[in-house]
Amino acid sequence: MLETGHKPIIARPSGNLRGRIEVPGDKSISHRALMLSAIALGESCISGLLASEDVVNTRRAMAALGARISAQADGTCRVRGTGVGGLRQPDAEVDFGNSGTGVRLAAGLMATTPISVRLTGDASLCKRPMDRIINPLQQMGARFEPAASSRLPLTLHGARHAVPITYALPVASAQVKSAVLLAGLNTPGITTVIETHATRDHTERMLTAFGADISHTDRAGQRHISVSGHVELTACDIAVPGDPSSAAFAIVAALITEGSDITIDNVLLNPTRTGLFETLIEMGADLSISDKRTAGGEDVGTVTARASRLRGVSVPAGRAPSMIDEYPVLAVAAAFAEGSTHMAGLAELRVKESDRLNAVLAGLRQNGIAARAGDDWLEVDGGPVPGGGVVETHLDHRIAMAFCVLGLGARNAVTVDDGKIIATSFPEFAGLMAGLGAEFIDADGVS
Ligand code: S3P
Repeated sequence: MLETGHKPIIARPSGNLRGRIEVPGDKSISHRALMLSAIALGESCISGLLASEDVVNTRRAMAALGARISAQADGTCRVRGTGVGGLRQPDAEVDFGNSGTGVRLAAGLMATTPISVRLTGDASLCKRPMDRIINPLQQMGARFEPAASSRLPLTLHGARHAVPITYALPVASAQVKSAVLLAGLNTPGITTVIETHATRDHTERMLTAFGADISHTDRAGQRHISVSGHVELTACDIAVPGDPSSAAFAIVAALITEGSDITIDNVLLNPTRTGLFETLIEMGADLSISDKRTAGGEDVGTVTARASRLRGVSVPAGRAPSMIDEYPVLAVAAAFAEGSTHMAGLAELRVKESDRLNAVLAGLRQNGIAARAGDDWLEVDGGPVPGGGVVETHLDHRIAMAFCVLGLGARNAVTVDDGKIIATSFPEFAGLMAGLGAEFIDADGVS
């Protein structure tokens, strides 16, 4: 049953995807670029900023907190910040839409400034756990109301006298790490986060670029990351590279469809984000990386993917943080591989934009693919993919895009019940894929 208000997409069997593209700016880096420039002194210029709903919500939030933000005719965005500790009291509640990264990082930014802000989001975001940031931010002096709740909407009362902490992350989460480090910026003394599993480090890299006093040491397999508070950030220019989590959909589409050969330029290749590429290469993918270089403190390069015969592999739990957003599309690649693919360490997938383990399992089964899942693992049996199913996206952009990709390689067209949600991260998805030769038909019959 298709729900009303949704905009279904039908993905038809396609082949010969060909072309050279760029994908839009990295979502994680885009959020951070807006937030750090919002509290820096002077004017920062951001190029390549992702123009998706999630990032627009962060941009609005930063403007409500006092940053002056203007879009330029050349597509860049200029941000004049408030200075560390200079965020102002917003006039109304702040709505982060679908974005966990937006609300969790912004909560960190606000937690040590004496303002009171009601934070909210869409139906998906209001189901996601916030205790992971509430706990450390409370230790730093912030208060959240209602006190007994760990879900949005919540009112955050920032600390007047913030206290620095040393916090060992209970989950491998770059969002929690970043929330604590950002709170540390307006806290006297040194705030330290200890992580056991390396998660994406864009906050640390960008803080360095903005002149923060940030350092890390590796001790007994753990990383201690420390930031000094009450140090002003200095505006800087940021070029946001293409998002590897968006590139992933086009890459897997090329691997599973006959005769395909695509190239994607300017893709972020930060080693904390490349677990999918490593896994696909182990599966036998014809995937190559060229023109590797450093730009704006991040590794970037060109990725070429060609139609490949994939084989099932076992993906270790330790790799999960470096590809946490890529499991839906990896499960799709696994459906086309010879043999089974086992993926471990997936507990965090249960608290993403949807319960992604359930959503992936249901989507695969709808399309005739045998798969099994436990609390924190997924196993997919590869083989010919019948397709023909209707997939429920549960307000989850990556479920929508992953199953659009499945439909391109399946024997029969696949219907994704809601294509609108894709705009939270990758509004150009259908257009870019169609440009490569993918056949998508939307609810109005337009291909
Ligand atoms: C992100 C961190 C990850 C990821 C999310 C973006 C970030 O979440 O799933 O899409 O930008 O810090 P967790 O930190 O909760 O794992």
